Amino acid sequence: MMADLYEGIAEAGPGAAAVFDIVTLDPDFYENPYPVFHALRRHAPVHRMPSGAWFLTRYADLHAAYHDPVLFSSDKTVDFKNTMGDTSLYEHHTTSLVFNDPPRHTRVRKRLAPAFTPRALRALEGRVEEVVAASLDEVAEMGSFDLLHDFAMKLPIELIGDMLGVPPEDRAKLSPWAVAILGGLEADLKPEQRDQYSKAVDDFKDYLRWLIAERKRNPLADDTGEVLSKLVGPDADGDSLTELELLHNCIFLLNAGHETTANTVTNGIDALLRFPDQMDRLRADPNLIVPAIEEVLRFESSVQLNNRKLTVDAEVGGVAMKKGDYIWLCIGAANRDPEEFPDPDCMNIGREKNRHLAFGSGIHACAGMSLGRMEARIALNGFIQQFGTIEPSGTARHHPRARFRGFVDYPVTASP
Ligand code: HEM
Repeated sequence: MMADLYEGIAEAGPGAAAVFDIVTLDPDFYENPYPVFHALRRHAPVHRMPSGAWFLTRYADLHAAYHDPVLFSSDKTVDFKNTMGDTSLYEHHTTSLVFNDPPRHTRVRKRLAPAFTPRALRALEGRVEEVVAASLDEVAEMGSFDLLHDFAMKLPIELIGDMLGVPPEDRAKLSPWAVAILGGLEADLKPEQRDQYSKAVDDFKDYLRWLIAERKRNPLADDTGEVLSKLVGPDADGDSLTELELLHNCIFLLNAGHETTANTVTNGIDALLRFPDQMDRLRADPNLIVPAIEEVLRFESSVQLNNRKLTVDAEVGGVAMKKGDYIWLCIGAANRDPEEFPDPDCMNIGREKNRHLAFGSGIHACAGMSLGRMEARIALNGFIQQFGTIEPSGTARHHPRARFRGFVDYPVTASP
């Protein structure tokens, strides 16, 4: 049964699966990790790495883990101590909601929820269209430009800038801070990187303290899409976030919604250029944009890895594990599992039953998924409808990071 499912799928072989270690990856891995993921899923689906941590690649195993937050904890207070030490980077990542269990997770998530209701999102749609139209005008004028930096990055920065009420002239600072702070989550974090990324956390916190004081003096009008002012005070039940919870979850909002969305747009255009039949199909029928975005999310998931920790001894994926074992959930592999997705290495923008895990699942499922989807839909569709010819004008290199899939840069030439 399994052998048939893997027929025609390029996989790296049992040897590659046996020696796989997330902290020592070959540079080629970042360009195309999927043959290694297929090999792991086929030959060692519950793989133990030299550190003792487990690496899971089957769709069913990830789905089960996401839906049992009691057995699979998201709390990182012990594990991040090893790589981050007693730093601001550690303070940030262990305070953001994604790395906490209930009840801490629940109260912060509840505070953020009003920013992502269907009503709040409908109100943002016009703003998304406006920012995309302005960016398209800019790049059309340039002719040759960087797809990621000159186009895809602009939109999430503007939207999260609006949400936090960051003045336009300060928005250029946001992206370098976010990239640095997220870099702190890589498995092979070096001491000099840890210090540099901690400084980004300190600078961002100082900036937010200034911004919050400013908002208290000069509140913004209700129709600006700004949520910071609402997060500062108590909620309807009189519950307030602590100062650190407020600062770190604002930082997290930027980090969570910025590169993830920009990379989805760039990964999507890249995939459509590699599968020209799918590009033609989408240009011919723009109504396909909704399933097309789902396929981009599955096919080149911009978040490739999540982590959990076992709270008691248990059997996971048929293997006995111990309380405290650290687990890597490989979204990139699960989303190409042939048991769940027929012909998984083929991009099919009309794919049916596309229940991908690009946004995770369960209680930590991406709070901003509807916003991310809307941004990606309007940006990607706008781009391919505006430009009939899109040609790479240099080498687009993937970022050498395993957790987040995207490009360092992506030079293109585009014309109507
Ligand atoms: C296409 C873009 C995006 C992708 C692929 C993505 C992916 C993810 C994934 C995989 C998780 C789950 C983490 C886990 O379970 O450990 C997550 C959580 C989260 N995301 Fe996103 N995300 C995207 C866009 C956004 C946006 C635009 C925002 C908000 C501005 C956002 C806010 C969040 C938040 C707040 C969480 C934490 C949820 C919780 O722990 O309860 N994301 N995201």
